[in-house]
Amino acid sequence: MLINNDTIIKDDDERIRMKSEDVSFPVPKEDKELLMEMMDYVDKSTDEEIAEKENLRAAVGISAIQLGIPKKLTAIIIKDDEGNKVFEYALVNPKIVSQSVEKAYLEAGEGCLSVEVEHQGYVYRSARVKVRAYDLLKEDYIEIKAEDYLAIVLQHELDHFKGILFYDRIDQKNPFHKEDNAHPIE
Ligand code: CO
Repeated sequence: MLINNDTIIKDDDERIRMKSEDVSFPVPKEDKELLMEMMDYVDKSTDEEIAEKENLRAAVGISAIQLGIPKKLTAIIIKDDEGNKVFEYALVNPKIVSQSVEKAYLEAGEGCLSVEVEHQGYVYRSARVKVRAYDLLKEDYIEIKAEDYLAIVLQHELDHFKGILFYDRIDQKNPFHKEDNAHPIE
């Protein structure tokens, strides 16, 4: 499937609010292919030249519902400033099994491939989460103990399974209110 900024559905499309379903096991071929194409999108999206040529918006994650497919599939690639992959996950049926009370938030706010309008404000999420999933790259079940940026990315992507967008979590009356027990991430 062709994945670019034209084929990714936006928040004016009601499908973005759908609940995603568990993927069956063994993972069907079509779901594997889709997830690997999602990985490829995320990987290429941070290469400015390719992104420009292929109409990709830079991202660290994408979930299948953003292609209109309500299945629990998420691709995450986080790179350092030199472009080296720091985290890379092709997740099938990821699930948060525990999370900290302590919160964290991105100082610059969150963004999303399905949201084209800027929504300013802090999105408070757990500073640490434990996620269990099947990882297609390792072809095995994994447990991710994530903190700070990775924890936020995981929670953002898993919200897509419930049809929740990041700006749903911004306090509309006071978008930059400070919460106790929360630390900013640059
Ligand atoms: Co998103």
